[in-house]
Formats: sequence, structure tokens, C-alpha cells
Amino acid sequence: MRLSNVEFMAMNHPLRRFVQKHLEFRNFQSLGLVDKYRNILEIGCGSGYGAVLLSALQPKTYLGIDLMPEQIALAGKWHLPGFEFKTMDAAEMKDIPSQSKEIIVIFGILHHIPDWRNVIGECRRVLAGGGRLFAEEPDGNIVRRFDKLFHWRHPEADFSLEAFEREIRHCGFDIVRKRKLAGFGTYAALLTQ
Ligand SMILES: C[S@@+](CC[C@H](N)C(=O)[O-])C[C@H]1O[C@@H](n2cnc3c(N)ncnc32)[C@H](O)[C@@H]1O
Repeated sequence: MRLSNVEFMAMNHPLRRFVQKHLEFRNFQSLGLVDKYRNILEIGCGSGYGAVLLSALQPKTYLGIDLMPEQIALAGKWHLPGFEFKTMDAAEMKDIPSQSKEIIVIFGILHHIPDWRNVIGECRRVLAGGGRLFAEEPDGNIVRRFDKLFHWRHPEADFSLEAFEREIRHCGFDIVRKRKLAGFGTYAALLTQ
């Protein structure tokens, strides 16, 4: 789902980048996102700051997708050689070949997507066997509290960390590491089936 104007501004604020770099990306690194020269897909790449952080891994290929063309236009301005950004719905990634990615990274987008379970199914399809999914998400309670306070207008989805864990296991992932802090969950999951 498209971001409301106020969340669009918040997501492109320097404070958001500070949190993404010093908290979320570090968390991913400590859960094992350290391998260089991989085929990486970032889902919901927003304005591309995640790509800037992931460039430290010198990916063999990097593709960032986002539903909002405005975000993709901003992402293109980082001038990261070889990095690709495309407008695409993560629930229907049919332009991405099956088993073509080794790592998928999600910085907080599933709680925006009513059919977030389809996104997990698509992650399973595009990841090669032994591929890994790194995801960071707020629990549903946090999302609802934010909406009350800041009127960010997230969709009425049934997203929760518990449902997320159930779904990724159901789709053939093993949760190899996870960390929960203040209602936010960070996961490293391995595709085993
Ligand atoms: C909370 S923002 C996070 C952006 C960025 N990952 C970050 O951490 O700053 C959620 C992003 O997911 C994107 N998004 C929402 N629904 C989507 C969908 N169905 N497919 C792809 N991207 C989507 C939004 O456009 C937005 O850029």
C-alpha cells in the first residue's frame, strides 16, 4: 500500500536513516548479513538508503523494488553503479525469475501490505535453495499505536510478529536467529525446503 504523505516524509527524514543505519542494519549484520558478492533483492527499498547500506556487501547484483514510483525515482539518485531499482508490487514479483536470489532484505514493509502472506510466498519462489531472508518488522500492536498517535493510516491487515513467524515456517523457512526489542522483531531465516 502507498505511504500516507506524513509517513512518506517521516521515512525520508535523516532521523529515519540514522535508525536504519545504526539500529536496523547493525541488527541484520549481527544476525549474519555479512556475506559479500551475493545476489540481493531488497523489498520495499523506499528511497534507496537501504541500498546505500547494503553496498558495503559489494553485491554481485542488487535489485530494489518498491510500489511507489516516487520512491524509486529518489532511489535512482544515489548513483550506485550496477544497482537496479524497479517499481513493482512485492505480492506479485513475476518479473523476477524463480530461484534467482541468494539474499532478500526487508526493512519494515510487510505491515504495509494487506496480502503480506503472498510476499512470503514470492520470497520463497525467488530465493535459491539455502537462500536467506532478513526481515525487520514492528508487531501489529505497535503499528496500531503509531496510527492512533501519528495518523499514518496503515492498512487494516492482520500482520503480527507471531503470524509472520508462523507463515515463514509454513513456507519452508527455518528461523535461524531472531531478536525482539520493544515490539520490533528482526529475523534471519534460511530457506530449507
Ligand atoms: C515503511 S516504508 C519503509 C521504506 C524503507 N524500507 C525504509 O526502511 O525506510 C514501506 C515501503 O514499502 C513500500 N511498499 C508498500 N507496499 C508495497 C508493496 N505491495 N510492494 C512493494 N513495496 C511496497 C512503500 O512504498 C514504502 O516505500
